[in-house]
Amino acid sequence: LLEFIIYPKGVSKGMKVVKLGGSVITNKKAAGSRKGVKARFLPGVARRLLKEIRDSKQQIILITGAGSFGHVLADRHGLKEGYREDRQWDGYCRVSRDVRRLNLMVLDEALRLMMRPVSIPPSVSVLQAEGKIHYLDEGVFRRYLAQGLMPVTFGDVALDMGARRFSICGGDALALHLAQLFRAERAIFVSDIDGIKVGERPALAREFTAAELGRITPPRGAAGKGVADVTGGIAAKARLALELAASGTETVVLNGRKGGRLLSALKGGEPVGTWFRRPPA
Ligand SMILES: Nc1ncnc2c1ncn2[C@@H]1O[C@H](COP(=O)(O)OP(=O)(O)OP(=O)(O)O)[C@@H](O)[C@H]1O
Ligand SMILES: [Mg+2]
Repeated sequence: LLEFIIYPKGVSKGMKVVKLGGSVITNKKAAGSRKGVKARFLPGVARRLLKEIRDSKQQIILITGAGSFGHVLADRHGLKEGYREDRQWDGYCRVSRDVRRLNLMVLDEALRLMMRPVSIPPSVSVLQAEGKIHYLDEGVFRRYLAQGLMPVTFGDVALDMGARRFSICGGDALALHLAQLFRAERAIFVSDIDGIKVGERPALAREFTAAELGRITPPRGAAGKGVADVTGGIAAKARLALELAASGTETVVLNGRKGGRLLSALKGGEPVGTWFRRPPA
């Protein structure tokens, strides 16, 4: 209660949640290579997207995905399925370090742009239950927003109160949770594709409803060859976006490799992308 007295207007009505997907800010395909992690980060793309965020002048919660920094090791150690054997904890610690590294590289760019970002790692502020967010310290987000700072969180591992002991707290799931919590006006998933493709001859779905769920074009090759994704890939993203839209947040999956689309979506425009509309009032 005290918090609401101290920070009455922490969250604006037009708040936006932006997820910079691992697919756009990292080279997901280079994941298996022995190159240093830094080589897999795409600073130029991140910088341009951050500029678009800054230029939009909107109140934003930013989420960075895991890309090649998280999915590969998480997959190798079977972190998605939870605890089986003791040595998985080594993988847990590594993944938590790697995704934080990526997050801090994005943070470095945001700092150069004077965006006042503050990193909030889920591994120390989220408690999961059977693979889903059970508790998230919303006060941290609210208080930073109230000070005019930009909370930046990221897809991470987290402790789980269920039998699995730990699980993955994905960036998409964080976007859903935070957007619902703060009644975000829009949620924007920035990716390396124009949107979600449907049909046998893949075509971009401009508007996505539950009817399209069964029509999503499956990834080519064995589950998108060479690209690990422990959080369920594009179908999981579509289901989550439908849930977001249903709870009142207009949602879009758009291409961050194309300049200006993120900025447009942040300013209320309707750039090319896959749109998930909220139900009519
Ligand atoms: N039908 C489809 N439509 C669009 N993209 C698809 C489809 N099938 C597979 N994909 C792949 O899904 C990818 C986007 O999902 P992915 O989870 O890899 O990205 P992300 O969420 O941005 O990354 P991260 O999970 O690391 O944050 C695209 O790069 C594309 O290759
Ligand atoms: Mg993903």
